[in-house]
Amino acid sequence: MRDIRVLFPTDGPVPPNMMIGRRADVEQVSAALVAGTNIVLAGPRRTGKTSVAEAALAGARRAGLYTASVDLFRRRDAGDLAEAIAEAVIANRSALKRLLARARGAAGTALDAATLTASAHARAELGEAVDLAFRPGLAARDPDRALAQALELPQRIASADGVRVAVFLDEFQDVASPARPFGDPDRLTKRMRAVFQRSSSVSFLFAGSIEHLMRDLFGPNERALSQFGSFRALSPITEHAWRAGLTSRFRQADKPIDSDAVDLLVGLGDGHPRSTMLVSRETLTAALAGGRDRVAEPEVRVGFDLALTSDRLRHEQALEQIRLTKHAQTVAMRLARGRKPYPGLAPSAAQRALRALELAGLIDSPARGVWRVTDPLLRRFLAELPGTA
Ligand SMILES: Nc1ncnc2c1ncn2[C@@H]1O[C@H](COP(=O)(O)OP(=O)(O)O)[C@@H](O)[C@H]1O
Ligand SMILES: [Mg+2]
Repeated sequence: MRDIRVLFPTDGPVPPNMMIGRRADVEQVSAALVAGTNIVLAGPRRTGKTSVAEAALAGARRAGLYTASVDLFRRRDAGDLAEAIAEAVIANRSALKRLLARARGAAGTALDAATLTASAHARAELGEAVDLAFRPGLAARDPDRALAQALELPQRIASADGVRVAVFLDEFQDVASPARPFGDPDRLTKRMRAVFQRSSSVSFLFAGSIEHLMRDLFGPNERALSQFGSFRALSPITEHAWRAGLTSRFRQADKPIDSDAVDLLVGLGDGHPRSTMLVSRETLTAALAGGRDRVAEPEVRVGFDLALTSDRLRHEQALEQIRLTKHAQTVAMRLARGRKPYPGLAPSAAQRALRALELAGLIDSPARGVWRVTDPLLRRFLAELPGTA
């Protein structure tokens, strides 16, 4: 049997060959990048943006493009971001990639003559940004300048090698986060716009989990990145795809699942990718523990409870965050119980609470004026909190 964490991953992007559904999204995003269209993927956390983006990038690579992906969430500051971009872009040339690996292996010690020569050639051809990759720490000396250089690099390598480059910037809303990790957001986005606009052989893919921040960055006319990419939301993974995908995974685990049990599982997951996967994995755990040959409804119910338990800490952290905003707990509990958020609250207070919950990525609006707690496990946790709301 394959490792259950491979069959039911929950801690990060799903490798392309393990994705359930979303084939059309991947193909469309990939085709857009190949055609030179910039894309903005916005949607709640843990719903599959990075998985689709990485799979689309892999498709672009198969079509002959260079690709580079950088997760802004993992970058401390402008210098660190510059270094990551430079490295990711340069790795498209296999000779430079090998050299880079060797230089990293020799961390701290002086670069050998061959590496120095090769990187000097690359610098002559592609500009000083090459040094950012080869000399870790260099970017920190003048982060702004380093970032400006790194942003130019994709177009440089595209021109030099005659290929299109697809650049994926994940968790892009972090440029506008209150901590300003990369400096003043306005300045940075203006600089990006100026460089990106000249980068005619580069396609950009931006992903971000806080939809209204993303809309704010790319939407209003006065924003630097206004209309720079076309927005798209991921399509829901259909129930049909879930049923087929999960049925096959349970079979691979040597514990086939009954069809009414898989229906129950898909219903409990409520279309939320990560929670569906977590409940599935815990269902398998329950079936293995019970020593049964097949998975039936009771195992799914136990699986849901196990998933709730395993997410308990995460839920408690969410609750702490919710409590920072007045009335947000009341509103969240009401939504979790399928009730209207407003009764007894001043409209402005309810609005503020909804806004805070949305900003925290905990609720989303599937239709105008309708709100729901996005994650069905968090929804159950909130619904079962003691007290009336
Ligand atoms: N197509 C998919 N098939 C199966 N599970 C998925 C799929 N997309 C996302 N998931 C689940 O959601 C989790 C988060 O996916 P990820 O791509 O990292 O989301 P995001 O980037 O939106 O936070 C994965 O670990 C997995 O459990
Ligand atoms: Mg992601």
